[in-house]
Amino acid sequence: MKLDEHLAECDSDLRRLIIAIGNTCKTIKKGFASRQSCSDTENVYGEKQMALDKWADEVLIADLKASGLVKYLASEEQPEILEFDSAGNFGVTMDPLDGSSLIGVNLAVGTIIGIYRGNVLAPGNTMVGAMYVLYGPLTTLTYTVKKGVHEFVLDTSGNFILQEENIRIPDGKIFAPGALRKEYLPGHLKWIEALESEGYKIRFSGSFVADVHQILHKGGVFTYPGYRGKEKGKLRLLFEANPMGFVVAQAGGATSHGTGDILTVMPESVNQRIPIYIGGKREIQLIEKINKEA
Ligand code: AHG
Ligand code: MN
Ligand code: MN
Repeated sequence: MKLDEHLAECDSDLRRLIIAIGNTCKTIKKGFASRQSCSDTENVYGEKQMALDKWADEVLIADLKASGLVKYLASEEQPEILEFDSAGNFGVTMDPLDGSSLIGVNLAVGTIIGIYRGNVLAPGNTMVGAMYVLYGPLTTLTYTVKKGVHEFVLDTSGNFILQEENIRIPDGKIFAPGALRKEYLPGHLKWIEALESEGYKIRFSGSFVADVHQILHKGGVFTYPGYRGKEKGKLRLLFEANPMGFVVAQAGGATSHGTGDILTVMPESVNQRIPIYIGGKREIQLIEKINKEA
């Protein structure tokens, strides 16, 4: 079954938006080979931008503006929320290219999208949909519009074909621990040691979207915690935590910032960072139990 057929029951504007984003990501994928270099600019987080970061951002902004469906667009690569004079009223958040440090070493990177009705400075659980495209050995598109989580693979004819429907996160013993051990806060260290004592294996690539995709399919947990000197952690609430947390929650998993659900957080700013725990309910309940007892 093709993506547009699978979306047949979906609200028509939302269906058109998801299809449009999927098409733009096909263009992004084609641009990889000629955009491996570093640019000479930094984003608002002081991180060096890769040529691909900037190009993916540009093509997504252009296509989403041209779609006439999007009113507000917040991008990890833009300092402010963009507002379009369009008939549509969707708010979109995007990490145009997640895992940029891996571009030069041919590991999986991806595009992360959150979809709201109206402005995006709202809790993640108000999203009407979320999706990501993972550029790996296969190019896959995973989406949810709150009726299950579904994955598609790009075929040689350029169609996204259904690969797996109603994905549910299984129990699993892998964990993706970001940040430096020597900078772990006490509660986080205690939690990590509990997982290690139960035989959890490390699977951390440096690409949040790829690591969470693996957790979605194999179980376990991804974390980029708050740590000494950066208690808010590294990853962004709007562009990374909310959309990927929404997908995992819709697949039966959970999210936490250490003491509560990420998806209930009211954003204070567009580029707000947040400690991230995304994965199975058991692992998420454990970190919150440890922090509450601390
Ligand atoms: P981005 O490429 O969009 O800036 O995201 C990179 C993020 C995330 O994908 C990954 O989990 C994390 O940075 C890795 O950070 P470290 O290099 O500090 O491990
Ligand atoms: Mn990212
Ligand atoms: Mn990025």
